[in-house]
Amino acid sequence: MLPKYKRVIIKLSGEALAGDKGFGIDPGTIKEISHKIKDASELGVEIAIVVGGGNIWRGRDGEGIDRATADYMGMLATVINALALQDALEHTGVDVRVQTAIDMKEIAEPYIRRKAMRHLEKGRIVIFASGTGNPYFSTDTTAALRAAEIDAEVILSAKKVDAVYDSDPKLNPNAKKIDKLTYIEVLNKGLKVMDSTAISLCMDNNIPVLVFGLDNPENIVKVLCGENIGTIVKE
Ligand code: GTP
Repeated sequence: MLPKYKRVIIKLSGEALAGDKGFGIDPGTIKEISHKIKDASELGVEIAIVVGGGNIWRGRDGEGIDRATADYMGMLATVINALALQDALEHTGVDVRVQTAIDMKEIAEPYIRRKAMRHLEKGRIVIFASGTGNPYFSTDTTAALRAAEIDAEVILSAKKVDAVYDSDPKLNPNAKKIDKLTYIEVLNKGLKVMDSTAISLCMDNNIPVLVFGLDNPENIVKVLCGENIGTIVKE
């Protein structure tokens, strides 16, 4: 199979690592995802990953906690996930580098754009941790920002649901799957593809977002090879 893209960002939600438990890191799940990311990297695609932290901590769960503090706690959660993912990926035999937006140099490299790009050119997978390093910004926004910075052609947004629907498929059995959307449609209809900051950044920089389900980890390779699964958001 020939890949359609040269350099991509994979946005993995923290929940994707939790498996059916819904919390924490499930060893079997992270292993399975890592093997599929390895397969994808062996297609010759340069892969950077932005990982969320919702399986450990969500800013919005922090009732009574100052929003900025809750967000910093979430950024630390993404570092825990990034280290787990680095370890699982390394066990598959690929080279991985973690870079953090918040300096914690005993744990990982700091985020340096040109170094990240050099790692990718050398075939290493780069995991971006601790979001943008700023409260009030999501890891979806991080994916959009890093994609623009490192010239990624697309954001592959791996979710629990296999595509974007016109209503919540868990609540409405007649919910219709949407194949294509424009950025403006996502914003106007308030669809939960990404938050509005992230979608706006993608729109301004013309970065397509491909939403697909990780229920089958094979899907990572399929979308990289241009198979029409999930939903594409573009101009
Ligand atoms: P090249 O420049 O291509 O040789 O890349 P490299 O990443 O192999 O070289 P480098 O010597 O920069 O890094 C070697 C190892 O140290 C890698 O696993 C890096 O992730 C890690 N490393 C590099 N800089 C830092 C840092 O500031 N903090 C931590 N904790 N690890 C680092």
